[in-house]
Amino acid sequence: MSGQEYAISHWPETEEILAKLDHLVKLPMRPIKRQQMTNYLEHFEKACLQSKQLNEEARKYIPGGVQHNLAFNYPFPIAISKAQGPYLWDVDGNRYIDFLQAGGPTLLGNNYPAVQEKVSELMRECAPVTGLFHEYELKLAKLIKSHVPSVELFRMLGSGTESVMAAIRAARTFTDKARIVKVGGAYHGWSDQMVYGLHIPGTGAMEAFGIPSGCLKGTDEVFPNDIDSPKGLRALLEKNQKKGGTAAVIVEPLGPESGTRPVTRDYNQRVREACDEFDALLIFDEVVTGFRVGLGGAQGYFSVKPDLTVFGKCVAGGYPAAGGLGGRRDIMECLSAGLETGKPRAYVGGTLSANPLSCAAGYYSILEIEKTNAHIKAGRAGDRVSNGLQSIIERYGLPYVAFNHGSICHLETSGVMLLDIMDPNALTESGPRKQMMEEMGAAFTAEGIITLAGSRLYTNMADTEEVIDAALQGFDRIFRNIENG
Ligand SMILES: Cc1ncc(COP(=O)(O)O)c(C=O)c1O
Repeated sequence: MSGQEYAISHWPETEEILAKLDHLVKLPMRPIKRQQMTNYLEHFEKACLQSKQLNEEARKYIPGGVQHNLAFNYPFPIAISKAQGPYLWDVDGNRYIDFLQAGGPTLLGNNYPAVQEKVSELMRECAPVTGLFHEYELKLAKLIKSHVPSVELFRMLGSGTESVMAAIRAARTFTDKARIVKVGGAYHGWSDQMVYGLHIPGTGAMEAFGIPSGCLKGTDEVFPNDIDSPKGLRALLEKNQKKGGTAAVIVEPLGPESGTRPVTRDYNQRVREACDEFDALLIFDEVVTGFRVGLGGAQGYFSVKPDLTVFGKCVAGGYPAAGGLGGRRDIMECLSAGLETGKPRAYVGGTLSANPLSCAAGYYSILEIEKTNAHIKAGRAGDRVSNGLQSIIERYGLPYVAFNHGSICHLETSGVMLLDIMDPNALTESGPRKQMMEEMGAAFTAEGIITLAGSRLYTNMADTEEVIDAALQGFDRIFRNIENG
C-alpha cells in the first residue's frame, strides 16, 4: 500500500554497529559488581517468594519447571498473574515494565481492550474452534493482502515454526528443487530442517540434538551480509546449481535474531537479485517484522518483493495459534486444502490452524494498528529506549552496544550472541558470557524491567515517555555498578 509509514525513523549505520559489537566481544567482560549482584539475588528471595514456591512445585510436573525459552529464568522463573498495557504483575504483586511483550506480538500493548472485546464477542457467539470455514479467515486474508501486495494468497497456520515449514515445503514442491539456504544465526522456529546455524553463524548442526542428519542434508548456511565473497550467497547458489539447485533462500529481513546481527540497508535487495540470478525463490520470515516494522512489513520498508512471506506473532494480535503464509498465487496454490487429488500438493494441516479466535484477534489487531498507528508509536518508544541506553552507556564509559530498528531494540552487554565461531576462544567464552547475560536479565527484572533474554527489548504503543523514562532510570541504577575494565 502506498504512502505507508514505517516504524524505523532512521536506519542505524550497520557497519558502525557491527564494529562496536566486534569491539565488545574482544574486550574482557564487564559484569555487574559482585556485591550488587548479591543484592539483586537477595531481592528475589525476599520479594518473589510465591514465584519461587510455584516454581519448586512446577519442577515436579514440568521439565525444568518452565516452558518458555525467551525470558531468562535466573535465579528462578517469575510467575505472572496479570498483564495490562505496558506492564506485567507477578503473583507476589510486583509490577514490571514489559519489554518481552510475549516475544513480540503485542504491538498494541498487553490485553488491548478493543481487541479483547471483539474476541469475547466471538467467543459468546461461536467458539474458539469449529474445524469449518469462518468469515474472519477471509477478512484477515483480505486485510493482509491490502497492506502487503506480495501476498496474493494467504493461509493461516498454527505458529511461525509451522509457517516456515509450509513455506519450505511449498517452495520445494513448486520448484522441484531440494536445497534451502538460511542465514547463519537466524531463527526460523524449531522444525528439524531449521535447527541449523542457530544463534551463532557457522555453527551448523551444533544444536541439532535429536534431529537425524538426513533432515539437515538439504539446509545450507551463509554468513550474514556476505553475498559476494567466495563463501557468500552467490557462490553457494552457484555450487548448489550443480546439486539440483536451490528451492529458496530464507531471510529475517533485519538480520539474524531480529537484527541482533544487523544487515546492511541494501542486503535484502541484493539477496533478491542473487535469487533471481540463480532461479531460487526468496522467502521473507516476517514473523517479528510484520507488522512491527509497518503494516507493509519489512518488505514494504525495504521495497523488496519476496515470493513467499512467513507471518506469526502479530498476525493473531497476541492471541494463540499465530502463524501464516502468503505469497505468489502460483506458489501458494500448492497449499490448497481439501481432498482434491492428482496435483502436486505440499501437505499442511493443523486442527487449530485458522481458527475463528486467532483470525478475529489478528483481524481486529491489524485494524487497530492501522487506526492508532501503533507501529509508529511503538517505534518512537524504541528510539527513546535506544537513545536513552546509549547515553547511559556513554556516561559510565561502558563498551555495551544499544541500537534499534523501530520497536525492536537490542542491548548487548556480554556479546555472547556475537561470538565468532572462527575465533578459537569462542567456545570457552560462551559459557561465562551467557552467565553474564543471565545476570543482567536478573538485574533488569529486579529493577522492574522484563526483557527478552536480557538483551532484546520490544516496545509497544502503550510505552509512554513516562514508562520509558522509568525503565531508563532502572538501567541507570544497574549500569552505575559495573565492574571496572
Ligand atoms: C523470525 C522468527 N521466525 C520464526 C519464529 C517461530 O515462530 P513460533 O514461535 O510462532 O513458532 C520466530 C519466533 O520467535 C521468529 O522470531
